Amino acid sequence: MKKTARAHTNIALIKYWGKADAKLRIPLMSSLSMTLDAFYTDTSLEIGEEDGFYLNGQFQYEESSRRVLAYLDFLREKYQINDKLIVKSQNHVPTSAGLASSSSAFAALAASFAAFYDLDLDKAQLSRLARMGSGSASRSIYGGFAIWQKGFDDASSYAFALDEEPDIDLQLLAVEINQNPKKISSTQGMQQAISSPFFKPWVERNEVELNEMVAAIRKKDFSKIGSIAELNANEMHAINLTAKPEFTYFEPNTIKAIKLVEKLRNDGLECYYTIDAGPNVKILTKLKNVKDIKEIFMKEFPNVNIISAGFGPGISILD
Ligand code: PMV
Repeated sequence: MKKTARAHTNIALIKYWGKADAKLRIPLMSSLSMTLDAFYTDTSLEIGEEDGFYLNGQFQYEESSRRVLAYLDFLREKYQINDKLIVKSQNHVPTSAGLASSSSAFAALAASFAAFYDLDLDKAQLSRLARMGSGSASRSIYGGFAIWQKGFDDASSYAFALDEEPDIDLQLLAVEINQNPKKISSTQGMQQAISSPFFKPWVERNEVELNEMVAAIRKKDFSKIGSIAELNANEMHAINLTAKPEFTYFEPNTIKAIKLVEKLRNDGLECYYTIDAGPNVKILTKLKNVKDIKEIFMKEFPNVNIISAGFGPGISILD
């Protein structure tokens, strides 16, 4: 017997960057994301002689399988299961657009485990389970816009759907500046960021920014959605730059892409950017601008991949 689940990647417009409890992955702030149709992970689970993790058909040794196998241990302990398990994941992310994120990976794994063992979990319970694999995975249970409410313990920290099928003209363009794995993991980055003098204000502003974003989404106000998302991303990266020791995910081409987004916006082609724990830039725009922006970016960055995405669906069980 085998169970396969599909989860789509999400991009945070209000970001999670700081933990209240590292072990339980309880965040210090609530976050809000857009689930993307172009990027997803299919993960199947079956019983084996030994535990094993295959990614895109390749067996993963030691370091590359450690996090997945540790998560399996957590799941088995929680549900008192003794089976040895084989996990097979297929990342459907055209090349590595900087979006092969852990969000779809751990959401798909949590869902395939729940389906395999018939756990009969509701979406909030599944979100909590995915959260224990990776915080951002808690939001990939849902399509459209999702909010991960920070909560204060395991039971209260989970994501819910704000609008699973938003009727908003919003597209994301993923500009792949660099395919290399990130040098500072999000776990390490979050730990280091706490030392910034701006960390406290960052946490304190979360509620206001989240509420503003929810209001902008309800009003279908693209300009507001874009500008709040851009500000929120800049705040996160400002904290990294002012941490002790300071660090940044930006590379020269990240800055070049930011400048180009600002120029296009000033020239009347409305677009905004957001950036996660890596050098790649994600552009938010309207459908009518996608072609022009892509063309301009491809001229400025001839060797760079650019992939567009719209709203994606929530979790599904494939077989
Ligand atoms: O849950 P992780 O380890 O994938 O961390 C996510 C961190 C950001 O992508 C930068 C922000 C977010 O909310 O997704």
